[in-house]
Amino acid sequence: MKEWDKKHILGIKDLSKEELEAVFSLTHSFKEISQREVKKVPALRGKTIVNLFFENSTRTRISFELAAKRLSADVVNFSSTSSSLTKGETIIDTLKNLESYHPDIMIMRINSSACLELFTRYTQASIINAGDGRNEHPTQALLDMYTAREMKGKLEALKVVIVGDILHSRVARSNIFGFRKFSSSVTVCAPPTLIPYGFENMGVDICYDLDKVIDKADIIIFLRIQRERQEAVFFPNLREYVERFSLTPQRAEKLKKDCLVMHPGPVNWDIEISSSLKEKMHPLILKQAENGLAVRMAILYLVGTRKRQID
Ligand code: NCD
Repeated sequence: MKEWDKKHILGIKDLSKEELEAVFSLTHSFKEISQREVKKVPALRGKTIVNLFFENSTRTRISFELAAKRLSADVVNFSSTSSSLTKGETIIDTLKNLESYHPDIMIMRINSSACLELFTRYTQASIINAGDGRNEHPTQALLDMYTAREMKGKLEALKVVIVGDILHSRVARSNIFGFRKFSSSVTVCAPPTLIPYGFENMGVDICYDLDKVIDKADIIIFLRIQRERQEAVFFPNLREYVERFSLTPQRAEKLKKDCLVMHPGPVNWDIEISSSLKEKMHPLILKQAENGLAVRMAILYLVGTRKRQID
């Protein structure tokens, strides 16, 4: 591939198939580092990375931090609850202030959709999207796709079904952009109230009945019901949702033998997936998390070592 020239990673939408392939092959090499006795390489020595999380996160924040440390970068963690934001400072002022320390990469999670493009104007650093509102969560889709490729040997011609809270999900959008670039088909499955208006324009099939598609899926991604983002009631009650959209043992019987059941985490057991299936389903979900670390190392490496742009 030609040299990596993307300064920011704001979404899967902006990445070409060739660039996605480059991330996956690098991820493969970085996985090996985490299995070594000394889990560290000097690739980003001397670089400063700021983890800016304006919204709660455990796995994404920790894996970005670990990824940066394994590449020998200096990492600073910023969380909105313990910062001057609580004293009324604006995000842009916070960014300008952080800019005085000349960071190389800022990893940002924020609850507003698609605002990161604007923030790139206030910093010389690369910005990596760690989840922006309902817009995109590119590294989550990269790790989902990497895991799918690892297990299936390919990303083309797969039937992917995404079940659950599509309306509030940045993970769904990033995965749709990603899998569609490899010509896999994507079906979103949820109650009509949890599917955004006009979503068919994203090149997906829409289905309101999980039982109609469950036996055809090569990959099913269950999404968490994001109660913290739901300002209204989107379905009558949780029991009804579970009855129609949860992976129960009876439904699991209908899955193709080699169907991959994935979940970005955190899982609400007994809502998205029955806890009686935990022993069977949890290992792949944990593998996704493991791959997440290597994918984030790959992204930090590509962005952190690209030729400095004079702009
Ligand atoms: C996802 C997120 O934050 O968008 N989780 C994650 O990155 N681990 C999905 C979710 O919160 O349900």
